[in-house]
Amino acid sequence: MSRTVYVLNGPNLNLLGKREPHIYGHETLADVEAQCRTLATELNLSIEFRQSNAEFQIIDWIHEARETAAAIVINPGAFTHTSIAIMDALNACKCPIFEVHISNVHRRESFRHHSYVSLTATGVMAGFGTHGYSLALRHVAQLLAKEAVNASATNKDRRVAV
Ligand code: DQA
Repeated sequence: MSRTVYVLNGPNLNLLGKREPHIYGHETLADVEAQCRTLATELNLSIEFRQSNAEFQIIDWIHEARETAAAIVINPGAFTHTSIAIMDALNACKCPIFEVHISNVHRRESFRHHSYVSLTATGVMAGFGTHGYSLALRHVAQLLAKEAVNASATNKDRRVAV
């Protein structure tokens, strides 16, 4: 069973720490990646942590994740509110998808209240700061643990049935 989680970041998140720190805080994306990697080791997950300002690149990574990932954690940045193409790519994935926003988008401008990604996401984290990434990873680990328990119960049932 795959334990790889794709953590995908959209436009302008490379400027985290420098860009509007009163909204997004002072941590850089490298800090977020380091936190995700430390937590992933603790949770026995492996992560692919990526950022791009290009919509096509994020779509290509989602296609890659579709083949190999246990889950996708995605902060699509402003593409959240505009990209039907990213939503379509996510709709083509079977794995759980967690949408993360550092800020509480619902307290901000009305154009941030609509998310195409939420139409396909399993869960949404908004307003927890960069901690939202950790919350999403912990949740993925719990889901995988539950799946493993269910799979071993099914295997036992099969053994009884034979
Ligand atoms: C964001 C919220 C988006 O509305 C914005 O365009 C971003 C960052 C967040 O993490 O809070 O770039 O996704």
